[in-house]
Amino acid sequence: MATTDAATMEKIVALCKRRGFIFQSSEIYGGLASTYDYGHYGVLLKSNVKAEWWRAVVQERDDVVALDAAILMHPMTWEASGHLEGFTDPLVQCLGKCKRRWREDHLRDAKPEGELRCPECGGELSPPRNFNLMFETHMGPVQEEGSRVYLRPETAQGIFVNFKNVLQFSRKRPPFGIAQVGKSFRNEITPQNFIFRTREFEQMEIEFFVPPADAGHWHEHWLNERMRWYTELGLRPDHLKLRPHDADELSHYSSATSDIEYEFPMGWSELEGIANRGDFDLTQHAKFSREKLEYVDSGSGERYVPHVIEPSAGADRATLAFMVDAYDEEQVEGRERVVLRLHPRLAPVKVAVLPLVNKDGQPERAREIYQDLRRRMPAEYDTGGSIGKRYRRQDEIGTPWGVTVDHQTMEDGTVTLRDRDSLEQARIAMTELGGELERRLAAPWRSPKLA
Ligand code: GAP
Repeated sequence: MATTDAATMEKIVALCKRRGFIFQSSEIYGGLASTYDYGHYGVLLKSNVKAEWWRAVVQERDDVVALDAAILMHPMTWEASGHLEGFTDPLVQCLGKCKRRWREDHLRDAKPEGELRCPECGGELSPPRNFNLMFETHMGPVQEEGSRVYLRPETAQGIFVNFKNVLQFSRKRPPFGIAQVGKSFRNEITPQNFIFRTREFEQMEIEFFVPPADAGHWHEHWLNERMRWYTELGLRPDHLKLRPHDADELSHYSSATSDIEYEFPMGWSELEGIANRGDFDLTQHAKFSREKLEYVDSGSGERYVPHVIEPSAGADRATLAFMVDAYDEEQVEGRERVVLRLHPRLAPVKVAVLPLVNKDGQPERAREIYQDLRRRMPAEYDTGGSIGKRYRRQDEIGTPWGVTVDHQTMEDGTVTLRDRDSLEQARIAMTELGGELERRLAAPWRSPKLA
């Protein structure tokens, strides 16, 4: 079994295109830079990532409720949050041949001292200017100053402006959280690395409201919980680390942030940020809206503005990390096999049902089995091409189990159950198949790359 790190970004991009996970957006027009569309398996994989997040942060807890706020928000939101003023990156442009734009802070990270030059053509660079990352549009038929609105650059603010509503209707008291998944938009200067950094992406965010004195404890709690989530879903612990922000990297709202970083093919990079936002957001929105955004204890009469711990993850970035971590290559009987060793709960398809040959009643029997299994879990029925070719396809999309119907099935009602990772094949009665697969799907899973 191969355990070397075979994944490169080129291989992941090629696999995503070959198997229809993710491809360039608007391809027939030559594509739109750094925007991607998800095909069938990509949609299923990302939906599973989001479903696992909902399961962990809402379903399996008593203290977090769900929200789905609008993407377009009152423009004052962004004044209050500080985004209009401060959500900027330092932009420099090449004054030489290529005219490319760069983030000065990224160039400075790579070259802490001395004069910066254009990494592309070596040209001189313009002085940095602050570039606001929010996308603007206009609401209504007239494009005038008063109609300007923004596509939200984070889902978080939709939660803060609903704090009062949720407090009233959810019958919760701090410590409690509000969770939301949705699209965010940033006019990134240098989108890069496939779906790692794009201008349109999905976030999975929790704003967890706590009594001020307990903020440190809850920050620690969420750092542990979120690390656990990634490793339970199969990310190798030695490819994950926590990195506390230095004081000069902290966002304008944060008193402490730690990033969960993953070792992507391009190096260690942020997967999720977990910030202590203090009372910054509720205080700002209270000031700008003139609404009281605080918690009042009905028993003691104690009132305070809760502090906020914010675990903020990217659904696309997590999807990329799970794919990178799962990608493997190995030699099987002299042939190379590419396999996505995804956690079964994340795999887009859980089981493929394949007749060995397309005759002797095998396709019909396989279809019956498939009809039964698909009621229990996402399944596929495939008759196209040799059995080896069909298994290669299933391996590449990460299907953990394969069921082969052969001549023996027609005689004794048993099928072959193949395991994606060990390649073990077991003979099992058709009647026991559904139960056995459900048992395997519910069982704890460990990446075979950790063996
Ligand atoms: N509300 C806090 C916040 O938005 P962030 O660190 O800017 O914090 C949180 O973003 C997460 O959102 C990141 O860790 C990343 O997973 C995802 N994310 C941010 N910008 C992204 C981009 N341009 N493309 C893809 N994912 C992005």
